[in-house]
Amino acid sequence: PLPHHVRLVEVGPRDGLQNERHPISVTDRVRLVNDLTEAGVSHIETGSFVSPKWVPQMADSAAVFAGIMHSPGVRYTALVPNLQGLQAAIGAGVTEVAVFAAASEGFSQRNINCSISESLQRFAPVMAAAERQDIRVRGYISCVLGCPYDGAVAPSQVASIAAELIAMGCYEVSLGDTIGVGVASATSRLIDRVAAQVPPGQLAGHFHDTYGQALSNIYAALLEGVSVFDSSVAGLGGCPYAPGASGNVASEDVLYMLQGMGIDTGVDLQRLVAAGQRICDVLGRPNGSKVARALLAH
Ligand code: HMG
Ligand code: MG
Repeated sequence: PLPHHVRLVEVGPRDGLQNERHPISVTDRVRLVNDLTEAGVSHIETGSFVSPKWVPQMADSAAVFAGIMHSPGVRYTALVPNLQGLQAAIGAGVTEVAVFAAASEGFSQRNINCSISESLQRFAPVMAAAERQDIRVRGYISCVLGCPYDGAVAPSQVASIAAELIAMGCYEVSLGDTIGVGVASATSRLIDRVAAQVPPGQLAGHFHDTYGQALSNIYAALLEGVSVFDSSVAGLGGCPYAPGASGNVASEDVLYMLQGMGIDTGVDLQRLVAAGQRICDVLGRPNGSKVARALLAH
């Protein structure tokens, strides 16, 4: 049975823009977040507080948080890798953050410069400080369906990291197919295995569309009881540490599919398409959403 409601987590302003070659102005980043708010998106990953040497595109995230409209009922969240990032996020007035681990050692080293177990240890003080300040923490796991460095990833490995993140206090764990290699049957198997340790109601799907499999993976995850999905308007993005990774699945494409299935999201498709096209015009790149291209051609 399919859910009646899905929460879409818009990650374009973070996962999308972090991979742009040229810096994007704070004004354009703020405009994107505000456009998404006005389209009815209720959860927007707005920036990250990571080392600017590692990801220069996300420097100035504090200025973005200061500039955006803060619409009641909308969650504006930030990615943080460590306590330093959490403190910067708190300083910027952020009330929800996400920590990120990987399911493979190779990706963990290249993305956050430490092993998986070191990363989990590093999250412990982040979780404790967040709890003291009433900040909600989401968890991510990258490379759940394959790693660009280490190859195959065992579902049991993903399940145990997910269980650890929940035990540490994350309210939800987002499973990332960072390089988009998964297919629907692998997604079903993965979620089935992870659900033995973390209920599907605490899982989210984060699919990159590198191999064109994201929508079928989302459908497979829906059937397994997952009802939260991360996506990027206009299919922006990729990952600087995952060579060849194209963008996240386009939010417009996910929304079109969900609407067609009668699943409510609260997001307005026309406004979402307009938001995506505006940022594509700023970036001077073609729109990565098939649905947007089709609708804009009318
Ligand atoms: P490191 O070099 O090992 O860290 O990097 P360090 O603790 O030794 O610090 C080195 C320098 O970084 C110091 O500055 C620190 O102050 C600074 P220096 O003394 O050299 O001037 N630093 C920071 N600056 C700002 N904010 C911070 C911070 N922490 C340290 N929070 C570190 C380790 C984790 C910091 C680094 O590797 C890093 O920032 N990595 C982030 C990489 C990243 O953002 N990747 C993309 C996001 S993950 C993703 O996209 C996947 C996802 O979408 C899901 C999926 O698709 O799979 C979520
Ligand atoms: Mg991602």
